[in-house]
Order: sequence, then structure tokens, then C-alpha cells
Amino acid sequence: MDQSIHPPRQLAGSLRAPSDRSMTVRGVLLGSLADGVCRVEEYLDSDDTRAAINIMRQLGIVIEQREQTLTLHGRGLRGLTPARDTLYCDSSGTTMRLLAGLLAGQSFGSILDGSAQLRRRPMRRVTEPLARMGARITDTAGCAPLRIEPAALRGIAYTLPIASAQIKSALLLAALYAEGDTRIEEPVVTRDHTERLMAAMGVPIARHTTDASSQSPLNRQSSIVNHVTPPSRALQPVDLRVPADFSSAAFFLVAGCAHPQARLRLTDVGLNPTRTGLLDALRDMGAQIETEARAPDAGNEPAGNLTISSAALRGVTVGGEQVARMIDEFPVFAVAATQAQGTTVVRDAEELRVKESNRIDGLVEELRKMGARIEATPDGFIVEGPTRLRGAVVDGRGDHRMAMALAVAALVADGETVITGAECVSKTYPGFFNDLAALCPEAVA
Ligand code: S3P
Repeated sequence: MDQSIHPPRQLAGSLRAPSDRSMTVRGVLLGSLADGVCRVEEYLDSDDTRAAINIMRQLGIVIEQREQTLTLHGRGLRGLTPARDTLYCDSSGTTMRLLAGLLAGQSFGSILDGSAQLRRRPMRRVTEPLARMGARITDTAGCAPLRIEPAALRGIAYTLPIASAQIKSALLLAALYAEGDTRIEEPVVTRDHTERLMAAMGVPIARHTTDASSQSPLNRQSSIVNHVTPPSRALQPVDLRVPADFSSAAFFLVAGCAHPQARLRLTDVGLNPTRTGLLDALRDMGAQIETEARAPDAGNEPAGNLTISSAALRGVTVGGEQVARMIDEFPVFAVAATQAQGTTVVRDAEELRVKESNRIDGLVEELRKMGARIEATPDGFIVEGPTRLRGAVVDGRGDHRMAMALAVAALVADGETVITGAECVSKTYPGFFNDLAALCPEAVA
């Protein structure tokens, strides 16, 4: 699908972005293991979450979908039944990596596979530590398909070599089935939705921060350690309510900052601090964003409303621990950087090369078509701004966040932009162009 976008004169209104993908997938997986019925209210219905729902149904879980609520008839930790066919994860890396951990300790085997795009993404990062736990899991030259044989797992102590919530979550899920405790240390904090949900379901999970003050001042770094004891009792059912996905709201957050005539209100946005690095980066750039936080719901996830007004932005440097807290926001952050005065540098972000597409090379090639001054580096990119972008034909590269970021660039460009392959937004945000049209009908022809 080709999507045409014209720059609107103004951008105004209120929007609730679709619900959080990471939380919905975790709700589906962990809810299936509960000892009873769990409800996931305001769940996200998109390609990624549909893959997770279909797979849990293949594994014997009854899941009802009514209006905005999923009802999962959990069958306990040992209640899953073998699937007849391959478990197809579509393009969802989260579904595949988390399921690898969940399925590694079952008494039956499984095969996990996915789309051509997912088959290109690295999986050794989960199969290797799972094998250390005793899993009998093989990848295919480091990628999917993954073949899992029944195995008895044992707990491990593991320090994550890559800042990845998906690896951490795979190991946390495997730890539920392991003999003995599992200790996972992450030198850089990543999204902690799995930990919050497990704790809400009664899993004994202790988290502490290692003491940085005892280290040499030159090399001071604290890390988070998760210590999981396999539950002696069943996982307790919970009812969750999923807030809007910060990573989906992020497109409108940047649009509101970068467009010269904008005032937007984004409601019910998930504000888990492990996800909101973009808010910090935009504020450092001079953005005008007001936050009204509210008390967390069941599931213990903070949320609130954001009000954004146009602002003159200035370039910043982003690196280190902040990268993991905004890992999915770099495509749209690059668009903000094109509108900022001065130089923006992104470093320590080599993981961007192994997302749904190579986001470093993709951003450079696509944004240059619109006139941006952007250069790739091995672990990030450098942008010089501000640039008056010009409309162009650009390609979403089969990557939802690239397509949506290019749409935001189109809102501040001169003339028409055409985004090819725009249907890929359905991975996390099927209604993206409708929501954009609701805010500014003139933008979406
Ligand atoms: C996710 C973790 C991140 C993120 C992805 C979703 C999750 O991936 O990029 O979109 O739900 O755990 P990594 O763990 O590969 O960093």
C-alpha cells in the first residue's frame, strides 16, 4: 500500500494511542500459565499480538476476545498441551524469544518459526543461555526456525551480554520451570514488564541494584539483578488493564514537538520509566511536554496523560543507559533531530541494526531522500539540523516504526510524501493512518 501524506497547517487534538504490545504479549503468555481465568482489558489487537494469541490457542488455551478484553482460561504451569503444527510467530520477535523460554522446560517438544523478516533476526542470544539451563533447543544457523525438545531445566546465574528485555524475559519464563533459583543480572536496565507481571501473579522474584559506590569511581556502574525462585504454588490469576503503548504514542509526541503549529494531548500513555527515554531526550532538546501521571492499575504499570506543544528544538547526544530506555524510538527520534538546531549524536545503539530492519542504514537512506543531513556510524547516527525537509517517495522497508517515523517526517516536509509498503504499520498500530487523519484530515489524502 502506498500512503500519501501532505503537511498540515496545524496539528491539534487528543488521542489515545493503541495499547501496549509488550504488555499484551506478556499478558497472553503468563495469563495462559495462571491457575484460572485472567482478563487482559484494553489489549492490543495487531499482527504481533495475534501471533501470540494464536500460538497459545494451539497449545490448548481457550482465549476469548470480546470487544477490548481478552479472557484467558489459564491451565497452570504444566497445563499446556503439545501443538500439532509449527508455532508461527509471524514477524514478532517478542513472541518468538519469550516463547523459546516458556517452552524450553515443557514435557513436550515444539517448533517455532516466523516470517522471512523474523527468520533473519538473531536467535542465538536466547538459545545459548537457555541451553546453559539445560534446554534442548537448536536454532538454524543462529536464527529461526527453533526446535525445542522436552528437557529438565536448572537455574543459572547469567549476566546479559546485550541490553535486551526479550532475552531477560525468555530466561525469567524458563526460570519458572527450572530446578533451583535463577539470577539474571542486567548491566543496563531494560523494560521490566515481565518482572512486574510475574510479581503481580505471586512469583517469588526479588530485584535489587548492585552497589555502584563500592566500585572504582572511574568505572562505576550499577546493575539490576533479578532473582527468581521457581514458584512452589500456582501462578495466581490477575486482571490487567493495558495502557497505551508509549512507543506508539511516540510518533505523535515527536510530531507535536516538531510541527510549528501543534498542540496535542495523548491520554492513558504507559509511563513505565524503563520505556520513557524519549521523553528525557526530547526535554533535553527543549521540548514542551507536560506529564500528568496517575496511580498504576492492576499489573502495576504507571500511566498518564501528556500534553505537547510546538517548541524550538536543539541537538543533543544520546548514548549509554538511555539507549535501552528508548530502543524502539530511534526512527522517530531521528526525525526530531532533523528539526533541531545543531548536531544530534546517537551512539551505543548498534542493536538498531538487528530490529525489524537495519534501522541505522534505513533511516539514513530514507531520510536523505527527504533532504535530511544524516550520517550512519557503526553504533548510531549523526544528524545536522535544522533542515526543511521536502516530500519524496520513501519506503517503509517492511518495518512498522520506519513507516510511521517517515509519516511524521512528512508532516513537517514541503509538498507530498508517498510512503511505500505502509501496510506494515499493522504490526503494532493498525489504525495509525486513521488516527493521523482524525487529528488532521488534510494530511492524509
Ligand atoms: C521488546 C524488547 C526490545 C524491543 C522490542 C520489544 C520486548 O527488544 O526492541 O520492540 O517486548 O521485550 P530487545 O529485547 O531485542 O532489545
